[in-house]
Amino acid sequence: MLELKNISFDVLEGHQEIGIIRDVSFTIPDNKFVVITGPNGGGKSTLARLIAGIEKPTSGSLFLDGEDITDKSITDRARMGISYAMQQPVRFKGIEVLDLLRLAAGKRVSVADACQYLSRVGLCAKDYINREVNASLSGGELKRIEIATVLARGTKLSVFDEPEAGIDLWSFQNLIQVFEQMRDSIKDSSILIISHQERILEIADDIIVVADGMIDRMGPREEILPSLIGTASAVGTCVPFSGKPASVPKIPTDENGNPIPKKNC
Ligand SMILES: Nc1ncnc2c1ncn2[C@@H]1O[C@H](COP(=O)(O)OP(=O)(O)O)[C@@H](O)[C@H]1O
Ligand SMILES: [Mg+2]
Repeated sequence: MLELKNISFDVLEGHQEIGIIRDVSFTIPDNKFVVITGPNGGGKSTLARLIAGIEKPTSGSLFLDGEDITDKSITDRARMGISYAMQQPVRFKGIEVLDLLRLAAGKRVSVADACQYLSRVGLCAKDYINREVNASLSGGELKRIEIATVLARGTKLSVFDEPEAGIDLWSFQNLIQVFEQMRDSIKDSSILIISHQERILEIADDIIVVADGMIDRMGPREEILPSLIGTASAVGTCVPFSGKPASVPKIPTDENGNPIPKKNC
């Protein structure tokens, strides 16, 4: 269980202190799938960075299973079971995808297992397993590789910051299934996803709406989701912001309705 108690995060702009996060408190209980949503610039990614330890709060405390982790480093928090997939992942020149998955897992990962993690995020494993994690990868490919590393790690709390960003519709459908499976097999762990996608909001246990650095509202999905439908915080998978329906590519599925990989891997 993760608890944020009265977290504030200020930055200095010139001589002025600006409150990016303002007195935010919430709990992510075990075995829950929680979605944070809200307008751009509201402070969602900052909250994810505060949880991962990339930023330190100006005031307030964070607890993981009752232990105060406010002063713990990123590495300590990762060891304690917090994993984090960034909105904009970083590249690791000289490291292959397989190495990265093994590093993330912190244990021996067979090539077959690594391929499975990649397939789950819609990547043809044989094309990617020995690719270097460098500038030749697109933003969407990098994003999917990073999500695969979180899957490989399989920790207590997995934080995903806008996993849909930069990902094509085909892979997104695949990804939704990954999250649905994660939700169904959640055990002594929890998942926190920052997202605007209706399909992700629909599978949340709890929804937290963050705006202007504060919690606007939070509660069980049934309570919060109806108020979000039709807003920019709940974007339909195939409907762009203009509200016009986008053309929906037909996704090939197997007999169980699961998307089948694009290429013959
Ligand atoms: N370290 C920082 N220094 C200055 N401004 C920041 C810093 N971190 C975040 N911000 C600002 O705080 C606001 C919230 O950012 P962010 O958490 O990325 O929002 P969201 O993810 O909800 O779109 C933005 O206006 C952003 O520019
Ligand atoms: Mg963000």
